[in-house]
This record gives sequence, structure tokens and C-alpha cells, in this order.
Amino acid sequence: MNEVPVIAIDGPTASGKGTVAQRVAAALGWHYLDSGALYRLVALRALQAGVAAADVAALTRLARSLRPQFDAGRVCLDGRDVTDEIRREDVGALASRIAVHPPLRAALLDLQRGFRCPPGLVADGRDMATVVFPDAGLKVFLTASVEARAGRRHKQLSEKGFPSNIAILLQDLRARDERDSSRSAAPLRPAKDARQLDSSDLAIDEVVAQILRWHGER
Ligand code: C5P
Repeated sequence: MNEVPVIAIDGPTASGKGTVAQRVAAALGWHYLDSGALYRLVALRALQAGVAAADVAALTRLARSLRPQFDAGRVCLDGRDVTDEIRREDVGALASRIAVHPPLRAALLDLQRGFRCPPGLVADGRDMATVVFPDAGLKVFLTASVEARAGRRHKQLSEKGFPSNIAILLQDLRARDERDSSRSAAPLRPAKDARQLDSSDLAIDEVVAQILRWHGER
């Protein structure tokens, strides 16, 4: 049994879980896993290699040989910094399409669990509490209205200099929510013992403070 404590933060796209999880990890001095980045990295590799979204065997091979390096908020793959590239909307959309394949998900399990190192891990994604770290000491399901999430994503993209359109973002978020929640492999849903937090009207600091309070109560 692994004694290293884990805080699992799951939720839909653009619910703010990435920023929140990083802040919680920084506050505790723990490691941080952005599991969505792994699906995005597989998607990026698939795009580069011309692998189709339905080619499960080839995608699973890409996932199995994935050796990303995370350092100071940057991610490198095959010797190249791809931090900004994996945030592209086309990469995110493909990540969500390929994440439905059970063999690909299984291929990423060990990689994800390898992030569980002392003194602790804060992991964010869709199935951190339900599949990857079912023994996590604290499980948080972070939601926000689709409008709030589209607004945040729009702001994020404009700050990075990527053009975006709210109506298209809304459409894409709804499609991705639907796909993430309705797939049969590890669908997005709160674990039975997860605490739910709606961040639509909360500032990031308030969300972080609430999670740290929950952690402190344990
Ligand atoms: O969180 P992020 O938007 O970066 O994730 C990209 C895609 O990867 C999601 O739309 C989702 O389909 C998939 N994903 C997943 N399981 C995770 C994390 C992400 O299926 N734990």
C-alpha cells in the first residue's frame, strides 16, 4: 500500500481545477499532476504522426512510450518544450476524443501513479478519485457553470494571444462535457466520497482556501 497522501481534484474542462490544484500543491509543498496534459500529449503526438482518433492500437503505443518531463510549470516531450502547443483547442478536442479508449487509459495508469512521491501529491483530472487514486485522502469534485467556464477559457486564450470566440467555446465545452460524462471508460463523475464545490461565483483564492480547510480538517 502506498502511504503517500493524495488530494484528488476532478471536474469538467475549464472548471479551474488546474490552477486550483497547482496552488494547493504549492501551499502544501506537494507534487502536482496535471493528468489532462498526458492525454493532450498523446493527442499532440497523434496529430504529428498522422494517427487517426480511432486507431486504438497505435494510440496506445504512443501512450505507452510517452516520457514527458515536467519542470517548473513547463512540459517537454521528445526534447521539445510543448507547454503552449498542448493547450491548443484542436489538441484538447482530440485529447477528449481519444480519452474514450480503455487501452489508452490503461497505458497511462502507471505513468500517473508514478507521480505519487513524498511528501504528497495533488492530482487533477476526470478520474483521479474514481480510478487512478481511489484511496486519495481528500477527493474534490470542482464544477462551474458552462458559461463561467467559457468566459474563463476565453480570457486564458486571449492572454496567450490565441484568438477565440465565446459561442464556439461554449459549443466545444458542451460537446466535451457530454463526451467526458457519457463515455463508458472512466466517465467524468464525482466519487461517492467526493466533496463537491461549485466555483462559478468563487474567486480562485476562495476555492483554494476551502480545499486547504478540508485538508486541515482531516
Ligand atoms: O483537463 P484537460 O482539458 O487538459 O484534459 C484534456 C482531455 O483529456 C479532457 O477533455 C478529457 O477527455 C481527457 N482527460 C481524461 N481523464 C483525465 C484527464 C483528462 O479523460 N484524468
